[in-house]
Amino acid sequence: MSATIKDVALLAGVSTTTVSHVLNKTRFVALTTQDKVLRAADELNYAPSAVARSLKVKNTKSLGMLVTTTLNPFFAEVVKEVEKRCYQEGYNLVLCNTDGELEKTNSYLRMLTQKRVDGILVMCAEYDDSLFSSLMGERNLPMVVMDWGPSDPYVDRIQDNSVKGAHLAIRHLIDMGHKKIAYIGGPLEKLPAKQRLDGFVEAMTQAGLTVRDDWVIESDFEFEGGKQGIRQLLACEMLPTAVFIGNDAMAMGAMSEAQLSGIKIPQQLSVIGYDNCLYSAYFSPPLTTINQPKEMLAELAISTMIERINNPRQEGKMIMLEPNLVVRSSVARL
Ligand code: RIB
Repeated sequence: MSATIKDVALLAGVSTTTVSHVLNKTRFVALTTQDKVLRAADELNYAPSAVARSLKVKNTKSLGMLVTTTLNPFFAEVVKEVEKRCYQEGYNLVLCNTDGELEKTNSYLRMLTQKRVDGILVMCAEYDDSLFSSLMGERNLPMVVMDWGPSDPYVDRIQDNSVKGAHLAIRHLIDMGHKKIAYIGGPLEKLPAKQRLDGFVEAMTQAGLTVRDDWVIESDFEFEGGKQGIRQLLACEMLPTAVFIGNDAMAMGAMSEAQLSGIKIPQQLSVIGYDNCLYSAYFSPPLTTINQPKEMLAELAISTMIERINNPRQEGKMIMLEPNLVVRSSVARL
């Protein structure tokens, strides 16, 4: 028969309430007592029922996370960091890939609320505003939006300063002597894509450089989109000397396609990406890019979530993350 909390309390010589506080980390307990409880639990192979615990304390110590796709290395790295933080804080993470489908997002949202997760981290662009609002408004379900997602007065948002990131990219290209600069970006209905385009246009204009319509290409933040984008660019009558690409996944697709077409990078075309994914250091040539602090994004998402769980009706806040330039070898000096 499996051991109960009473058996653990008896063996450790403490009350069941103390055992519960030690195991759930709900109150400070003297280290010697903690030690006795943990040894007793270990000796008896005590496994508390998570369901029974949840019914009693009205939380499940679990968080849901909606992500567009973990195939994109940026999202994969953020998820890895989020999972690490959840583990450190004693939370389980229920990961849901929405694959950009509204129906899947809605059904995951319902499933997560039925599972009574304590909060939801949102990192996807496809959502039904009214469903989100009803969950947040009526059910007080804490939500933290990372990168992109719905807006609501009770939602906290953590966002990349993408306008600044684009300025850093263009400034670096200009410093390296480039004047003919093109842009391949993400889908404009996504805020970071829109802001990176705004930053590109702003930085070019401030430097007195021309933004050519045929050198501004809207794509989709995917590897394949980068490949299609560079094909479109290489078909232009006149070619730029450099291209700023709105994320590393597209930069990877674009670079391999350009190289297959015989273009030498960076000698004939310089490339700068965005995200600083782990893989970007292993591209050939290693990619110069704009770093998004992914570890900090995850850390802030979890600490903000815990704060919101404790104060669900506190007004939503907006936290801006600052990107920085990482110089490698994909930009040539002219
Ligand atoms: O690679 C995915 C991109 O889409 C990232 O730059 C992130 O900011 C998101 O908007």
